[in-house]
Amino acid sequence: MRILVVGGGGREHALCWAISASPLCTKLYCAPGNAGIAQVADCVGVAAEDVAGQVALATREKIDFVVVGPEVPLAAGLADRLAEAGLKVFGPSAKAAQLESSKGFTKELCRSHNIPTGAYERFTDADKAVSYIRAQGAPIVVKADGLAAGKGVVVAETVDQAMEAARDMLSGNRFGAAGASVVIEEFLVGEEASFFALCDGEHALPLVGAQDHKRAFDGDKGPNTGGMGAYSPAPIFDAAMQQRTMDEIILPTVRAMAQAGTPFKGVLYAGLMIGPEGPKIFEYNCRFGDPECQVLMMRLKSDIVPALIASADGGLKHFDLRWSDDTALTVVMAAKGYPDAYQKGSEIRGLEAAGKVEGVQIFHAGTKSDGNRVLANGGRVLNVSAIAPTVAEARARAYRAVDLIDWPEGFCRRDIAWRAVGRQK
Ligand code: AMP
Ligand code: GLY
Repeated sequence: MRILVVGGGGREHALCWAISASPLCTKLYCAPGNAGIAQVADCVGVAAEDVAGQVALATREKIDFVVVGPEVPLAAGLADRLAEAGLKVFGPSAKAAQLESSKGFTKELCRSHNIPTGAYERFTDADKAVSYIRAQGAPIVVKADGLAAGKGVVVAETVDQAMEAARDMLSGNRFGAAGASVVIEEFLVGEEASFFALCDGEHALPLVGAQDHKRAFDGDKGPNTGGMGAYSPAPIFDAAMQQRTMDEIILPTVRAMAQAGTPFKGVLYAGLMIGPEGPKIFEYNCRFGDPECQVLMMRLKSDIVPALIASADGGLKHFDLRWSDDTALTVVMAAKGYPDAYQKGSEIRGLEAAGKVEGVQIFHAGTKSDGNRVLANGGRVLNVSAIAPTVAEARARAYRAVDLIDWPEGFCRRDIAWRAVGRQK
């Protein structure tokens, strides 16, 4: 098969790494890709968001199967346009991607199908939002309805903060159309975990759980980011919790989407709060997590390609995947300043030696090549990933590799998986 992966981050590097190992894959393209992905795929300079460009590329290169990494092209209808052009695609239609692209859509679906989630209301009018916030009190969570690159959620500790966030979003100044409506949601107490399931429109195949670290600095301090590290399995997400999540959240969602005439195909990523009453969903994403995908791919023992095809073709009912019981962990190395302003173009050295540490894989998230040199080309730049029988050993291996990387312009957290390491002692 000739396969095209759409995207150019660490998630897409991990997907390309797994797909390139499949005997089913005879030729692999990635658009736009990055310097690391170029080691396993032919990178083509078409932006992930360029829907027409991606369709043209897939048609021109006679691609048999397109795997879409990020949410923005999915929400913009890339899977629909590829299907119209007669191409097979992994990823949901724009209508099904509303599970991520509209927080209000998801909350309404949860409410009407009794899927456990926080209490909420949806507003387009700032005064009404403000009176609801006053009536509910704080802490409370204010969310822009649409895609906002991970910046559309304000967990407000005070009523004033929540009111300001709601007014700001609804003014349209902050997120444009994505903030034209807001969801105001109950603050959920518990521990966060991410869970992934492949869906084929009718059935769902559980993958595994993971935990990530959203804050920039050690001790889960500092600003929110796209994720500074992740690990899988997450001890809190045991087999019983996975079963409850499938029965109470994932399967009812898949059924509801099918009933609505917008079947969900692709990977459903549930952002869960595990509290005293069990798992509650606080958001869906319609794609793999980044950097969670990196640790999932390291644990996956089966060929990923047939599973992705079964998701596209409707064959997941009798499908099975094998996972390593070991723990995979990834440390994100980011450019200093991230998630705010940062510089691009600094040189990264030592990658070869770091990649030789036992159990280590280095996925590139934001790099580009300049001759033989590798340059930083984004906020999150590298995902230094390791697998080992225990989380402590996986962490030791990952940081051993981090310490071999010579990149003064970068930084990383030193405490990835602190919860899991603490539990294992
Ligand atoms: P997001 O940008 O959608 O990934 O959300 C950012 C973070 O906000 C999540 O990782 C959670 O930590 C937090 N969050 C979202 N919704 C809630 C909620 N209802 N209660 C508590 N925390 C939440
Ligand atoms: N790591 C969080 C996300 O992919 O949204």
